[in-house]
Amino acid sequence: MDLQGKCALVTGAAGGIGAAVVAALRGQGARVAVADRDVSGIVAEAHLPGDLLDPAYADGLPAAAQAALGGLDIVVNNAGVITRGKVTETSDADWLLSLGVNVEAPFRICRAAIPLLRPGSAIVNVASCWGLRPGPGHAVYCMTKAAIASLTQCMGMDHAEKGIRINAVAPNEVNTPMLRSGFARRGFDPDTAVAELGKTVPLGRIAEPEDIADVILFLASDAARYICGAVIEVNGGKPVK
Ligand SMILES: NC(=O)c1ccc[n+]([C@@H]2O[C@H](COP(=O)([O-])OP(=O)(O)OC[C@H]3O[C@@H](n4cnc5c(N)ncnc54)[C@H](O)[C@@H]3O)[C@@H](O)[C@H]2O)c1
Repeated sequence: MDLQGKCALVTGAAGGIGAAVVAALRGQGARVAVADRDVSGIVAEAHLPGDLLDPAYADGLPAAAQAALGGLDIVVNNAGVITRGKVTETSDADWLLSLGVNVEAPFRICRAAIPLLRPGSAIVNVASCWGLRPGPGHAVYCMTKAAIASLTQCMGMDHAEKGIRINAVAPNEVNTPMLRSGFARRGFDPDTAVAELGKTVPLGRIAEPEDIADVILFLASDAARYICGAVIEVNGGKPVK
């Protein structure tokens, strides 16, 4: 998976999976532009801080990455937020935040990136197992992940003729701040909860960010040259039932 000479944009680069994706891409020789609200301290070739809820920022990210790196070959739409609750417990603010970060921002970034990308380029979106089958008590989050999974399948089909491959990963539980802060908010010790959750996974543990990053790296690379419009479950053998 040699990515020497490739230029990549990663959103949510300060988060658990994002940091692992940045390290994986750079480890294979790619030059990486990192996007998140705060990107200070991230080792990368270009830093593009901002709020994905700002349409102008999301619209402009691919061109900004291209200008900063001197090209653009890989886009990883990884940033995401999780709001909890049934529909009856979902506020307008939760709705707007979830749709804005998980669906509208990747839509804007893909729409802006596709015309810039050369044949042989790849976009990888981060969906979720919960976008493929419903999980309890997270109605709007699940819906946003179903939306990005569907958008990925549609874009993969529509833009393949330009030689651009667009795919998604659909992780189950991953040991990141998103998961751990949820446990902490509900009064559980995150380490104990992660260990307990690991017992429910056939492979014996929940995913570490690197487990997901390696699949994203593969999908971004020429090793995945015939994979297009796919949503790849990465779940340690534990699908959402
Ligand atoms: N952790 C899991 O169990 C899990 C499971 C399935 C899918 N995912 C998905 O993986 C992706 C990465 O999640 P993670 O677990 O690494 O979470 P995380 O919270 O560690 O990272 C998410 C990052 O997105 C950034 N972000 C959020 N809103 C933003 C905004 N408005 N503007 C700019 N940046 C913003 C955050 O600052 C953060 O750095 C998400 O799309 C998430 O839905 C996570």
